[in-house]
Amino acid sequence: MNAEESVHLEQLMFVDDPMETNEPRVHAAWLPPEAFRSLGARRVLVHGDGLLVDTVLHEVARACARYGGRVWHSPSWDVDVDLVFALRGADELPSSAVRAALSAGESALAEIGDGGSLGDEGFLLARDGDVTVVLADAPAGLLYGLFHVVRLCAAAFDSERPPERHRPALRRRMLDHWDNVAVHPVMGQVERGYAGGSIFWRDGRPCGDLARIREYGRLLAASGVNAISVNNVNVARTEALLLTDRLGDVAEIADVLRPYHIRVHLSVTFAAPVVLGGLSTADPLDEGVRAWWAATTRTVYDRIPDFGGYVVKADSEGQPGPFTYGRDHADGANMLAEALAPLGGVVHWRAFVYNHHQDWRDRSTDRARAAYDHFAPLDGRFRTNVVVQVKFGPVDFQTREPVSPVIAAMPATRVAVELQVTQEYTGQQRHVCHLGPWWSEVLRFAPWGPDGRAVADVAAGESGAGGGLVAVANVGDDLFWTGHPLAQANLYTFGRLAWDPRRDPTAVLDEWITLTFPPSATADPDLVRRTLHEIMDDSWRTYERYTAPLGVGFMVNPGDHYGPGVDGYEYTRWGTYHFADRDGVGVDRTRASGTGFTGQYPPYWAEVYESLETCPDELLLFFHHVPYGHVLHSGSTVIQHIYDTHFAGVEEVTAMRRRWRTLNGMIDPAVYERVAERLDEQVRCATEWRDQINTYFYRKSGVPDERGRDIY
Ligand code: GCU
Repeated sequence: MNAEESVHLEQLMFVDDPMETNEPRVHAAWLPPEAFRSLGARRVLVHGDGLLVDTVLHEVARACARYGGRVWHSPSWDVDVDLVFALRGADELPSSAVRAALSAGESALAEIGDGGSLGDEGFLLARDGDVTVVLADAPAGLLYGLFHVVRLCAAAFDSERPPERHRPALRRRMLDHWDNVAVHPVMGQVERGYAGGSIFWRDGRPCGDLARIREYGRLLAASGVNAISVNNVNVARTEALLLTDRLGDVAEIADVLRPYHIRVHLSVTFAAPVVLGGLSTADPLDEGVRAWWAATTRTVYDRIPDFGGYVVKADSEGQPGPFTYGRDHADGANMLAEALAPLGGVVHWRAFVYNHHQDWRDRSTDRARAAYDHFAPLDGRFRTNVVVQVKFGPVDFQTREPVSPVIAAMPATRVAVELQVTQEYTGQQRHVCHLGPWWSEVLRFAPWGPDGRAVADVAAGESGAGGGLVAVANVGDDLFWTGHPLAQANLYTFGRLAWDPRRDPTAVLDEWITLTFPPSATADPDLVRRTLHEIMDDSWRTYERYTAPLGVGFMVNPGDHYGPGVDGYEYTRWGTYHFADRDGVGVDRTRASGTGFTGQYPPYWAEVYESLETCPDELLLFFHHVPYGHVLHSGSTVIQHIYDTHFAGVEEVTAMRRRWRTLNGMIDPAVYERVAERLDEQVRCATEWRDQINTYFYRKSGVPDERGRDIY
């Protein structure tokens, strides 16, 4: 391409881009044009070929068209540049800028040591005189390098900046969409969705807004996500058809996301051979069934060559599975893995399996035990392209739970850890609840004891062979993507922690704030940054304070799971109980006198959780049934702790709202109004939680609040 062509390309990309109309159709989230100012004012050279290199080129051209910079694609003549993106293996060029950049990059890599490989997604950023150099071994690395430069803003061009090499800790960083193709009579278009309809499906059809899906892919790539499953794990009739008759709808999404290095996966029903193939059985050991899956899977790959694989919820909450045929989860998962293996795909087989027809009178059955009881005995039996996908806690994405013991129980299995970005149990995107600190705690938890490997190490696996990190997505067709504009930060943080689980979640939040609320776009950037940190940093703990106490969990309204319903699940079949009576509260999960769940942990935590002396306060009621007068490590009694935290929680939410009001006029009015509205609801709902929880426990225990505050 010559210089003239390069200018032409800039114009074309700028003008034709559907996202560049005057009326933004959707909030720009963490990629507003302003975030590209620093990059877009530079002279940029991109060297290399391929789909993802074209994406880099397109992004740079768009930014340069807006901010006055220039872009060249592999020029064979000399150009003066400020920034070079180059693939290491690309053709040699006479351009001295490229040669200089490559050799500077190579010396920086040699300096960093460790063999110099950047891997298939990693990149190097180094300075060579006045030039910033981004090198990658593979095109995906250049794409991630581009977004790194965007995040750094002017700091990417700081002459003192030492070289840095970045590689993701986890190979698969995946979002599961619980989106239904057809509107479900109870769950709606998106199961547990709090941001409007689906960006993929509407009333039984593809929703058709491919520009929006493309924009989503772009946001995900900038956060580090590289895989997505496009339909709910509960697969009904219409959704089942995505595997066969409606594969074209999935392929269309895959085509749009491919330029952002995102592979598409599909949730499938275990009963597919029967419901789609007309066979009389779905028995995983039946030859006809195996042949059906093999042939069907080949057809999928003919249409989507980089298809990621299947996600399966089997024998769980009414979904079909191998139990019907007297087979186990390994039989089921291995059959699908066999079909996928020759094509390079994986099965994400979920470990969320428990008896949802429990009798509340039966004190011996404990839902927390179920995943381990089903899966730990199967360790070693799964094929290498099976990933057992384990919810981070033993129950169900609660605000506070211990880490699932399954994560430590399957050393011979690839394990993925599943988080929930959609805020089913954490305020449903009506409440500010920044989940980064919680996920960070989970990922850093060391299941074998303080000196052992962490949860993130298990998900990463030896030499990157682990199952990775997966999360249930929180995005819908809402103008702000996530309903609550501040809930965008959870999506961003998930991607960034999946890339590097050791990162400080507050630093990640800071990054998100800088991108989403660019300092140049507000009159008082310090006030905006400080206020957002004050509101969000501790918001998960605030949420914890005004909801179910001390790790006991649930206490939500049945069905929609929003708002307080202390006894909502107490006498149901779902197995989530708190056992409060006039003397005490909590679930005895000890080996000594309870369900024995503590025994599922490796010895260190089995001991810590078993004993009242050592069990951490925040999980006390998850593991023990104690009297209201039991004294916590904090020095407070359980009942007084309940009162204090609930009063404090509401005060904190009121302070959040007060702080937010100081931003009126400082930020985009639409964002301001939406958050202000939701904070009103958060204050209302937190007050309801406080009053119901406090009143409930006051009535049960008869113990008054030491400080004589209002309890009803
Ligand atoms: C929760 C949630 C369900 C979902 C299930 C799952 O129980 O409420 O809507 O289907 O998790 O993870 O499969």
